[in-house]
Amino acid sequence: MKHNINNVRMLELPEYGDDRGNLVVAETEQDIPFSIQRVFYIYGTKGDIVRGKHANRKTQFVLINVAGKSKIRIKDGEGNEAVFSLNRPRTGVYLPPMVWKEMFDFSEDSVLLCLASAHYDAEEYIRDYDTYVEEIAKMNRSMEEQH
Ligand code: TYD
Repeated sequence: MKHNINNVRMLELPEYGDDRGNLVVAETEQDIPFSIQRVFYIYGTKGDIVRGKHANRKTQFVLINVAGKSKIRIKDGEGNEAVFSLNRPRTGVYLPPMVWKEMFDFSEDSVLLCLASAHYDAEEYIRDYDTYVEEIAKMNRSMEEQH
C-alpha cells in the first residue's frame, strides 16, 4: 500500500457531555483504526520549537491535542505537503507509516496525546529527510516493478 498524504485524515472521537463536563472515548480498533500498543504525550514545548522531523517505517499514530493547540505538517517525500491544526480534545489526526511529520506552533498549555500502533523501536525511525526521500523513491520503484 502506498502511504501518501491522502491516507492522513482527521478523526472525530465520540464525546459525551453533560452538566458535569465532557468525556471523550478512543477505543482501540474502533474509534482508532489500529490496535493501540503505546501511549505518550508531549507537553511544555515552546511555541518556536519544531518536534518530530522524522518518519516511521511501520508505526501508525493518532495525535490528539487533549489540551491547547498545535499543528502538524505532513510531507510525502514527493513534494506534497499538508498542515493539520489540532485544537479540540475530541479531534485527532491519523498518520500512516512512512509520512514525514513535523509538529510545531505549540500553545503554552498544549498537551499532545499520541496513540501508537507499535512499541517504541528507535530502528524504525528515519530522522534524516534525504534518507526518507530516497526510501520513498525506492518503495515507489519496487511497487512499479511489481505492476
Ligand atoms: P523524539 O522522537 O525525539 O520526540 P518527537 O517525536 O516529539 O520529536 O523522542 C524524544 C525522546 O524520547 C528520544 O530520546 C526517544 C524517547 N522516546 C522513547 O523512549 N519512547 C517513545 O515511545 C518515544 C516516542 C520517544
